[in-house]
Amino acid sequence: MRWALTPGIIGVGWGLTGRQFFAGGRSAKPYSTAVLLLNMGGPAELGEVGPFLHRLFQDRDIMQLPMQTQVGAWLAKRRTPSIRAKYAEIGGGSPILKWTKIQGDLLCKELDSLSPSTAPHKPYVGFRYANPLTRSTLEEMERDGVKRAVAFSQYPQYSCATTGSSIHEIHKFYMDKKESSSIKWSVLDRWGTNPGFVAAVVERIKEQLPHFPQNQGPPVILFSAHSLPMKTVNRGDPYPVEVSATVELVMKTLGSTYPYRLVWQSKVGPIPWLRPSTEEAIKGLAAKKLRNILLVPIAFVNEHIETLHEMDIEYGSDLAKQVGVTIRRAQAPNDHPFFIKGMAECVVNHLREDVAVSPQLLMTCPLCTRETCGKTKMWLNTLNSFNQKQ
Ligand code: FES
Repeated sequence: MRWALTPGIIGVGWGLTGRQFFAGGRSAKPYSTAVLLLNMGGPAELGEVGPFLHRLFQDRDIMQLPMQTQVGAWLAKRRTPSIRAKYAEIGGGSPILKWTKIQGDLLCKELDSLSPSTAPHKPYVGFRYANPLTRSTLEEMERDGVKRAVAFSQYPQYSCATTGSSIHEIHKFYMDKKESSSIKWSVLDRWGTNPGFVAAVVERIKEQLPHFPQNQGPPVILFSAHSLPMKTVNRGDPYPVEVSATVELVMKTLGSTYPYRLVWQSKVGPIPWLRPSTEEAIKGLAAKKLRNILLVPIAFVNEHIETLHEMDIEYGSDLAKQVGVTIRRAQAPNDHPFFIKGMAECVVNHLREDVAVSPQLLMTCPLCTRETCGKTKMWLNTLNSFNQKQ
C-alpha cells in the first residue's frame, strides 16, 4: 500500500492516494451509478437488539468511554432488555430497512428518468449498527463491479456522530482492504435545506393541522431532532445549526403564523446534551396551558424507534395523558413523492457538479483533536484530487 501526504485544509495527516484508491477507474467511463444510502439502521427483529447496541456503544464517534471495548459491551448488555421491550411494542423490530429500501428503489427510478446519462442507477443500503452493515455492502459493491458510486447520507443534517461515523466506516473499509478499488466515489453529506425534503415536511405538517380543535387557537409546532452531547456541540459540530436551517425553511415554506420551537429528543446518560428536551418542552407548554402540540420529526427521514416509540408512545400517549395535552405527530417523509423527487434532484445536482467531497466535509470541527477525523479528511481530500486529474 502506498501512502502520501496530501496538502489540504485539514492541516496534518496521512491518506491513501487517489490514484491508488481509484486504480482501474481512470480509464473506465462510468456506465452506471450506484447510490449507497447511509444510515444508523435498526434491529429488524428482537434477536438483533443486542448486537445493534453492542456496535453502537463501541462507536467512538458517538461516545468516548474509558476501556470502551469492555465498558461499551457491558452497557449494551445492560440496556438490551429494556430496548428489546420497546422494539416489541412497535411490532418486534425497526422498519428502517423497509423504508430505506423503498426510498432507494423510488429514488433510483426517479434518477433513471431525470438523469439518463448516469443511468441505470442502483440503490445499496449501508447501516452503521444493523444489517446490512456498511462494510458488507461495500464488499457487495466491489463484487458487483460498481464503477461510480455516491455515498448518500440519509441524515439530512450533518453531524460527526452520524454521517461522520458512516464515512469513517467507509474509510476504514478501504484502509483494511488489500486490493485497490475500481469505484469512483463521491459523498453527498448534507442536504437539510433541499426543497423537496422541506416540501415533504411541510406536507406532513399540513396533513395533521386540520385534526386539531379549531376553536382552541393554533397548535404549537415542536420540531424534534435527535439530541447531541454538548461536548460534541462545543467542538464545533454543525448539526444544531443545520437542523435550525431546516426548521426555518419549513416554517417559511409553510407560510403561516403557527408558533414553533426546535427541541431535542433521545438523550442518554448523565452528561449535558442539547436542550430543551422534547419531554421537558411538552411539560413546559402544558404548564403554560398550551394544550395542542404537533410533533414534527425534523432530522429523521423515515419511521423508526425514535418516532414510533419515543414520539408516539412515550410522548404522544403516555406523557400527553400525564400532563393533559393533545399531541399529534407528523409522519416522517418516508415515501412522500416530494421527498423522493427532492432526493433525486439532490443526487442529480451532485453528479452534475462533479465535486467528490464538499469543503464543509473536508474541514474538521474547530476544536477536534481526534486523529481518526484528520485521517479520514485526508483520505476524502484524495477523492477530490483524483476527480481534478480526470
Ligand atoms: Fe468533528 Fe472530529 S469531531 S471532525
